[in-house]
Amino acid sequence: MAHYAHIIGWGMAVPHRVVTNHELAQFVETSDEWIVTRTGIRERRIAGPYESTATLSIAASEEALAVAGISPRDVDLILVATVTPEHLFPSTACLVQDALGATKAGAFDLLAGCSGFIYALHIAAAAIRSGMHQVALVIGAETLSRIVNWRDRNTCVLFGDGAGAVVLKGSDMPGGILASMIRADGSGAELLIIPAGGSRFPISESAVRDGCHFIRMNGREVFRFATRVMEKATREVVAQAGLRLEDVDLIIPHQANIRIIETAAKGLGLPMDRFFVNIDRYGNTSAASIPIALCEAVQQRRLNPGDRAVMVAFGAGLTWAAAVVQWGAPQARLRPPWLERLKRITLYLPAQLHSRLMRFWRHLDARLSRILRQQGE
Ligand code: UT7
Repeated sequence: MAHYAHIIGWGMAVPHRVVTNHELAQFVETSDEWIVTRTGIRERRIAGPYESTATLSIAASEEALAVAGISPRDVDLILVATVTPEHLFPSTACLVQDALGATKAGAFDLLAGCSGFIYALHIAAAAIRSGMHQVALVIGAETLSRIVNWRDRNTCVLFGDGAGAVVLKGSDMPGGILASMIRADGSGAELLIIPAGGSRFPISESAVRDGCHFIRMNGREVFRFATRVMEKATREVVAQAGLRLEDVDLIIPHQANIRIIETAAKGLGLPMDRFFVNIDRYGNTSAASIPIALCEAVQQRRLNPGDRAVMVAFGAGLTWAAAVVQWGAPQARLRPPWLERLKRITLYLPAQLHSRLMRFWRHLDARLSRILRQQGE
């Protein structure tokens, strides 16, 4: 039985299409100035017709598996945290499992709003530490552009699309996920909700007419809740790991609003340079926001082996969650950008051909990773 759950691979995928605040201002009554000063967002990625929560999840997972040098056949648990699954059922996780060829994995979706990725990490780490699972793929993925009302300026300027994934593996070496916590308060359910489309209010003509199939949010109340729990959860999880705030090298907060992050920094008495921020380029990508930020923190060498990072999020439910990770994985192999572009182009091929090419690519990549790791050992 492994005593620790380590992150040994990571990957992200975002749509190509960049939508700036200026573009939004052309069809909804808003301005770049308002969005930047109130949220910190400058642009976001929006999925094209061939991109979806599953395709982004698959692309992020392929990258994470390649970094880990793990074959999909060795994965025995796949969790997809999302509020924008492909369907109500089957789960997006099952579609990802099939596309990857992870034939020995159990797979399910997890819905915990923007806290979803940390919820999934919490569950996967516990499953690994209990000995029930050995290798888990934990994904946070969203196509929020499909569920926002593009005429509602209160919400449409905030959200974006993308996915991030990590591979978790058991080990006896101390480190990895040092502590984690998940919490919920369903009394705030109405504050951030899609009223229709579930079993309570099935989709109907009148539901669509009233826009009940879109995100509805009480921004001010969610803001108040967020500033309260971000600081509290960070303190709680750091204490649970037996650490002090000074021992934390980097905080990776949910990227919802720069003002929420600044308030948390002030409350914790930490400088802003201890926080990783990329909200300006992606907006709020809900469950994908933390794994995308984690990948970029590693790419930018803001997170290095031995560092301790806190991930902290809040979201619909209401939910909140936090985790402390001691980074111990090797640095990502850098791939030439043209190769990534080539991979993306295959998305436009017929599904069967795309899936065959991807299988071939994964086979090659896993082999190459294994050879490089053997050489490094
Ligand atoms: O992942 C969890 C998801 N949600 C969140 O994290 C959201 C948390 N909340 C927030 O980030 C902020 O509350 C918002 C960014 C949503 C709103 O910022 P705010 O400073 O709380 O603005 P407000 O709601 O108090 O609105 C101020 C004004 C209003 O006009 P009036 O009533 O004062 O005349 C709004 O109608 O700003 C107006 N407004 C806008 N103006 C230009 C709201 N949205 C926009 C917009 N462009 N996009």
